[in-house]
Amino acid sequence: MQVSDKDKLQAIPAYYLLQDYEATAATHRWEDVEKQFSWFHTGEVNIAYEAIDRHAESSRKNKVALYYDDGDRKETYTFYDMKCKTNQVANVLQDKTTLVKGDRLFIYMPRQPELYFTLLGALKLGVIVGPLFEAFMEGAVYDRLDDSDAKVLVTTPSLLKRVPLDRLPKLETVFLVGDDIEETDSVYHLTRQMSQASEQFNITWVAREDGMLLHYTSGSTGAPKGVLHVHNAMIQQYQSAQWVLDLQEQDIYWCTADPGWVTGTAYGIFGPWLNGVTTLVVGGRFSPQNWYQALASYHVTVWYSAPTAFRMLMGAGEMVKDYDLSSLRHVLSVGEPLNPEVIRWGIETLGHRIHDTWWMTETGAHMICNYPSMAIKPGSMGKPLPGIYATIVDDQGNEVKPYTMGNLAIRKGWPAMMRAIWGNQERYDAYFLQGEWYVSGDSAYQDEDGYFWFQGRVDDVIMTAGERVGPFEVESKLLEHPDVLEAGVIGKPDPVRGEIIKAFIALREGVAPSEQLITDIQNFVKTGLAAHAAPREIEFKDKLPKTRSGKIMRRVLKAWELDLPTGDLSTMED
Ligand code: PRX
Repeated sequence: MQVSDKDKLQAIPAYYLLQDYEATAATHRWEDVEKQFSWFHTGEVNIAYEAIDRHAESSRKNKVALYYDDGDRKETYTFYDMKCKTNQVANVLQDKTTLVKGDRLFIYMPRQPELYFTLLGALKLGVIVGPLFEAFMEGAVYDRLDDSDAKVLVTTPSLLKRVPLDRLPKLETVFLVGDDIEETDSVYHLTRQMSQASEQFNITWVAREDGMLLHYTSGSTGAPKGVLHVHNAMIQQYQSAQWVLDLQEQDIYWCTADPGWVTGTAYGIFGPWLNGVTTLVVGGRFSPQNWYQALASYHVTVWYSAPTAFRMLMGAGEMVKDYDLSSLRHVLSVGEPLNPEVIRWGIETLGHRIHDTWWMTETGAHMICNYPSMAIKPGSMGKPLPGIYATIVDDQGNEVKPYTMGNLAIRKGWPAMMRAIWGNQERYDAYFLQGEWYVSGDSAYQDEDGYFWFQGRVDDVIMTAGERVGPFEVESKLLEHPDVLEAGVIGKPDPVRGEIIKAFIALREGVAPSEQLITDIQNFVKTGLAAHAAPREIEFKDKLPKTRSGKIMRRVLKAWELDLPTGDLSTMED
């Protein structure tokens, strides 16, 4: 079903939900937002209840929660349908597994309705959900399931081939979504089981500080870290969906991010559904035709995407003229710097200023943003969310003057802040300076009007096509290749993808560099880790720059690449 023109024309109020930024920022208290949730009155907390059941039990019962479209499957689910489906999943999990509150369940499948039923259904049981991006390969999947001692995995038959079950002794039960599935006492057909399950379920109530989601993300060193979020995040996700996304009752909202990344959960699921707003999920791969088609045929009003996608659409040129995008009223971007050139394209072709938003996996929700009611300075990330104190500090944690570049930091303790790095207190503590500041790893400065301007990462983390890749993970994979002796990985600036991954490699003795070897190494990373983590460029060197302690100096590799001075080389080995 699609939205009729009549529905589309039903007045979307011509005011913004955050009308006066300065006044709200001066007076906002998070405690006031709590009154919006049913738990404020009942004392019973669960984010899945607030996102689904609450609406299913209200006048929004028959309102569309989810439009799903991947070209083949076109489906529509109301909030009431979502309540029934998520209850069925919860019943199946309760029946067939040993899952109890706090246990970890992972979802590893492409965007499709069952992903959303499972994520919310599992939350109804109080378990912690780890969503995995479908492009991950064996090594990446293993690291995450192993690190978190996952008990249950929900996946598809083809993706299951990438799961090394024999190396995951803690994994007890697998649910498959798809065709031709043979059930055993540890492998079940999810939708077959759901069809036999009750649509009623008694939700497991949790504490606001109980775990909800585990999103793995990369740092510059070490294995990926499991960032733990708790149910309390809903306070900020709900409020920012109003202030930043400007979501209103009549909106048709599309967030293009996959739930394997934090944007796809915080603003692909919770932000809109906590507010009872209709959400579109487009399955399948990116193509300019499909995306323009989705915007036009669903009459999308609010659209949240990323600079790389916008740049790819820019590259598709005039095609946009074939589609009626007049229903759009608000467009936003996240994940990488939004170039003024893209903002200009938005104004000229979409008729809208694209609003930049800054935040991270660790922050759990929007932090620094451009609001519809606020004047935009193209190139700036905007101002802190009311209720958030953001600043620039030096390496000692002292706040610095406007226009001084430094560490972008947030005063700790906002509602959606991560609560742990799974199983690693030390890595969690390393984020905080002087017990007060969460230090983001980004460098930025603030201007005299309080706008923040992004400068870059302080560490070596790579942002490629909006995805965060840790050089260490890629280097570790490269070293597993039989011909590779040493590897150093950097982000190289790229006009479309922001950065691409470039690897410098020293080969083992006797191995000759060749085009064939480059392709072979690229495929090795693609199939072992993930396609987006494979180096697009590989350069062979006899030797890589290392510190005396043997650490590859990525800073020197970057300087080589960009033809910059290499700086202080006193710690480099001879
Ligand atoms: O470097 C910043 C960049 O993305 C990093 C966080 O990546 P991740 O945890 O994957 O979350 C991405 C989406 C929530 C940040 O440290 N980043 C995010 N937003 C912006 C950005 N860089 C520039 N401008 C932004 N608006």
